[in-house]
Amino acid sequence: MSDEEKESSSSKPSDSGEEKPKLKRRAPVRRKKPAAPKAKKADEATADNAEVAPVSEKVAAEVSPAVDQKPESSEPEQKSKESKPKPQSLPKSSAKPKEEEGNKPEDRPKPSVRPQRQPNRRSQEHAPKYYEDQARNVRDLANLKGKRPIVALTAYDAVMGRLVNDAGVDFILVGDSVGTTLLGHRTTIPVDMTDMLRHTAAVRRAQPKCLLVADLPFGEASFSFDRLLESARRLMQEGGADAVKIEGGRDVADDIEKLVATGVPVLGHIGLLPQTVKAIGGYRKFGVDRQEAEDLYTDAIALEEAGCFAVVGEMIEEAVARELTKQILPPLIGIGSGAGCDGQILVSTDILGYNTRKAPSFVKTYANLNQVISRALSQYVEEVRGGKFPS
Ligand code: KIV
Repeated sequence: MSDEEKESSSSKPSDSGEEKPKLKRRAPVRRKKPAAPKAKKADEATADNAEVAPVSEKVAAEVSPAVDQKPESSEPEQKSKESKPKPQSLPKSSAKPKEEEGNKPEDRPKPSVRPQRQPNRRSQEHAPKYYEDQARNVRDLANLKGKRPIVALTAYDAVMGRLVNDAGVDFILVGDSVGTTLLGHRTTIPVDMTDMLRHTAAVRRAQPKCLLVADLPFGEASFSFDRLLESARRLMQEGGADAVKIEGGRDVADDIEKLVATGVPVLGHIGLLPQTVKAIGGYRKFGVDRQEAEDLYTDAIALEEAGCFAVVGEMIEEAVARELTKQILPPLIGIGSGAGCDGQILVSTDILGYNTRKAPSFVKTYANLNQVISRALSQYVEEVRGGKFPS
């Protein structure tokens, strides 16, 4: 049974053999049609229904972030428990209903306070934020070229997926960098389809409103076109990705063209290709000499002609990246390639200072989660050892 099924079934009556009091069907009460509601505040509207409501404001739902949420057992449940009728006000016979005169369900005194419905767990979750100018599909993203900088981040699970979406990015990449950032590998090479499917599906469950792209792991583009198509299909159908990213330039352009023709949107990736790190002997800058700059140009044009909706340019010399940005039609999304690109992507754990290894030098860190988390964890350990928690 899925979690959702469990959730919904937990509110249903039990199927055990216990005799249940029969509820008498009440005559339907005709309610007066309520007057047309006043326009809801953005946060009320989105909490009611995440799918409704594009808004004219930049942010549709100004809701408290997930980190501020209270545990499920706290306030709302407490309140609804308080407002329930006290059990002793009901006649004892309600436990074993006997249908004698004066003891029929309809004869029993009605509780004066109507029991409140337990708030459903899903309605306590905040709805994903929606930004009007956030790219929601590959066409939106391609159309941003020349209009404003495109912004993207990686995410690998539902919590980060929600937070990254809510920050307003144009697309989320479930990168195979999950291998080095979260799974403890030294390179992205050990990452496989099982990893990518699990992490992509987790981010999809965060219901991001922006475009969701998943990386094809090492080797998947090299066996055969059928294998490539099958892996892309799985990332989209099982993982819920909107598009896939493939590392490589002219060497993979023919297969990308065929993939695009079958309806798989592809994000290209040139410059430093982390999946080839063993072959190139380490991470370094690309486009440093004329030959490499020309090769990058050939690769970028090949990807444009193959139909990529955008191209990631990793660790490319700033001047070369700036020129490529002008030369190609799809947006060039830079990572460590300077400010002249159509947009920027970074690894979320790097910018948050949540890692076991130093982030690359081009990364700006916006938080130090390592420090925040270690302080909190040490405090917990101290409090338990010192008998301070539980108090
Ligand atoms: O896997 C990844 O995170 C990437 C980005 C660095 C672009 O490919």
